[in-house]
Amino acid sequence: MRHIGVSNVMAAQMAQARRIAKIICVQNMYNLAQRNDDALIDSTAAAGIAYVPFFPLGGFSPLQSDALSKTASQLGATPMQVALAWLQRRLPNILLIPGTSSVAHLAQNIATVDLALPDDVLATLDGIGAAAKH
Ligand SMILES: NC(=O)c1ccc[n+]([C@@H]2O[C@H](COP(=O)([O-])OP(=O)(O)OC[C@H]3O[C@@H](n4cnc5c(N)ncnc54)[C@H](OP(=O)(O)O)[C@@H]3O)[C@@H](O)[C@H]2O)c1
Repeated sequence: MRHIGVSNVMAAQMAQARRIAKIICVQNMYNLAQRNDDALIDSTAAAGIAYVPFFPLGGFSPLQSDALSKTASQLGATPMQVALAWLQRRLPNILLIPGTSSVAHLAQNIATVDLALPDDVLATLDGIGAAAKH
């Protein structure tokens, strides 16, 4: 076994795993509205460990937010594209695995590499996660 990744781990479990072996990636639930792993993402980035958010678009409960829809229409993008662009701006160690059964959605998702999010838009999007925590 050359590389080990872990999934569905809390920070304490991650620390425990790293005492046993070199961990190269973590796969946990994380998206614009589900931000419980903010601190874990920061620590994996600092340690050079990849973070792979599962349910990046909300999974079985697709992301829905008025602020997200409004921001998307301002940018000429779809809400899901903005949600993926936000993840790519969050930190460079985040690797995306959005699931799709649609070639059109696949093309939209790939195009998010070029979707720039101005700072004021980022602040609005950050507010969605903050509101969801309360
Ligand atoms: N480690 C774990 O415990 C764990 C748990 C759950 C999931 N995962 C993994 O995480 C990855 C992502 O999970 P997921 O696919 O369930 O959730 P997801 O990526 O959050 O959401 C997928 C849903 O979003 C829709 N979608 C994708 N692109 C879209 C677009 N551009 N516009 C509108 N809708 C779009 C898809 O519908 P369409 O098909 O119509 O595009 C599908 O219903 C998968 O590889 C999965 O195996 C891991």
